[in-house]
Amino acid sequence: MKILVLNGSPRKGNTLTAINAFAKGVSDNHELEVVDTYKLKVAPCTGCGACQCYKGCVAKDDSNMIVDKIVEADVVVFATPVYWWGITAQMKLVIDKCYCKGAYLKNKKVGIIVVGGANTNDKQYELIKGQFDCISGYLSWDLLFYNAYSATKTDDLANCQSAIKELESLGAILD
Ligand SMILES: Cc1cc2nc3c(=O)[nH]c(=O)nc-3n(C[C@H](O)[C@H](O)[C@H](O)COP(=O)(O)O)c2cc1C
Repeated sequence: MKILVLNGSPRKGNTLTAINAFAKGVSDNHELEVVDTYKLKVAPCTGCGACQCYKGCVAKDDSNMIVDKIVEADVVVFATPVYWWGITAQMKLVIDKCYCKGAYLKNKKVGIIVVGGANTNDKQYELIKGQFDCISGYLSWDLLFYNAYSATKTDDLANCQSAIKELESLGAILD
């Protein structure tokens, strides 16, 4: 399967650690690509409607490139830090642009990895899960996993062996 991981963090910290641990557990039978959303040039969706949900975006930036990668992927993993009780702006810019090919985005397998500073029983993880549950319902996505971790300093997650082991084991779900 083609697995696309969208990294929503702009720093080399916990989300990247989580992605690397996840990638380690994915078997070589699959093709895995990680895209750092902060490196993309994606203008915010203006709601112009020119795409009609299948024609692609009129913006002359990385919007179509990243949405086409999502369309082509069998599995999309959204990995994001918590910023203000939600996903990062970098991740949201990409998700908004999914509108331009929404008609081709149905029936994907999806995984979610979230890292926030607060404890994992905090409301923010519920809010983010709720958002992805709604998107998954709308696009008939199969939500394979939702894993939330509490970590603040850039190396906090790397120092949590139980989290790393859990992340490494997620790949087996795809076999
Ligand atoms: C702008 C900003 C907003 C944040 N808001 C929250 C928040 O609402 N809840 C939370 O638990 N952590 C919040 N954090 C902490 C980060 O989620 C946390 O440090 C996380 O480990 C960052 O992931 P990273 O190392 O992959 O960048 C925020 C951090 C920043 C920079």
